[in-house]
Amino acid sequence: MTLTSWNRLADTCVLLDGFHALKHAVRFGAEVPVAVAVDREAALALAEELAPDVRKTLDALLTEVPEPTYASLVPRPHPTAVAALAVRPSRAANLEKLAHTPRTAPVVVLDNPRNLGNAGAVIRLAAGFGATGVVTTGTLDPWHPTVVRGGAGLHFATAVERLDVAELPPGPVFALDPEGDDIRGIELPDDAVLAFGSERSGLSAELRARADHLVALPMRPQVSSYNLATSVAMTLYHWSLGGV
Ligand SMILES: C[S@@+](CC[C@H](N)C(=O)[O-])C[C@H]1O[C@@H](n2cnc3c(N)ncnc32)[C@H](O)[C@@H]1O
Repeated sequence: MTLTSWNRLADTCVLLDGFHALKHAVRFGAEVPVAVAVDREAALALAEELAPDVRKTLDALLTEVPEPTYASLVPRPHPTAVAALAVRPSRAANLEKLAHTPRTAPVVVLDNPRNLGNAGAVIRLAAGFGATGVVTTGTLDPWHPTVVRGGAGLHFATAVERLDVAELPPGPVFALDPEGDDIRGIELPDDAVLAFGSERSGLSAELRARADHLVALPMRPQVSSYNLATSVAMTLYHWSLGGV
């Protein structure tokens, strides 16, 4: 029964790879139609220890399967030997969250990102800081399984969508660029759209044209740039400090 459900849902659902991804997704309200563990009791003991708030839900969700069955469902086995499928939130629901005003936390925009691991790390950061959402432009799918793995199940804690630059949510655009004004003299408002350039070529001409402010992170002259995800981390941290 579990395998039949899995096979039926695998093409349309999002793979939650490992206990922590499942824990986060459940905690942030994901609909999880099927979840498996090689050792159900061990997974529930982990929940008891690390995530008692979701233990009851996991108890109802998890089905024990033999190790070879589990291994056939995932690209590579996770140390916790837990996997699940979650329903991807509708684009319409995410667009509504992104467009909602007044906004109480920024939207992060990754302008044509190339690295799936960076995108996952940024979604995790956005979730941690309570950002409204993460928008990507360009061809990278922010719901790609590798991005979801990097995001540790936290796609469900923020609104993640791909949009064109022309469709960005409302709000002043603060585009991060080493040539901009020092961030230490700038207060980032809650309705800010914080835009970051691609790992290869920085901000696109289209995004630059849409930017209201160019903002730089402190960096000594001999260094060309920071990694994309660390730039997002510093900027969200700066926003979280408010005007202090
Ligand atoms: C790896 S960097 C891009 C490097 C790229 N080779 C370029 O020409 O800009 C990725 C993005 O991180 C942000 N970033 C990195 N270092 C920054 C800094 N010192 N100040 C502001 N933004 C920075 C920018 O948004 C940048 O487009």
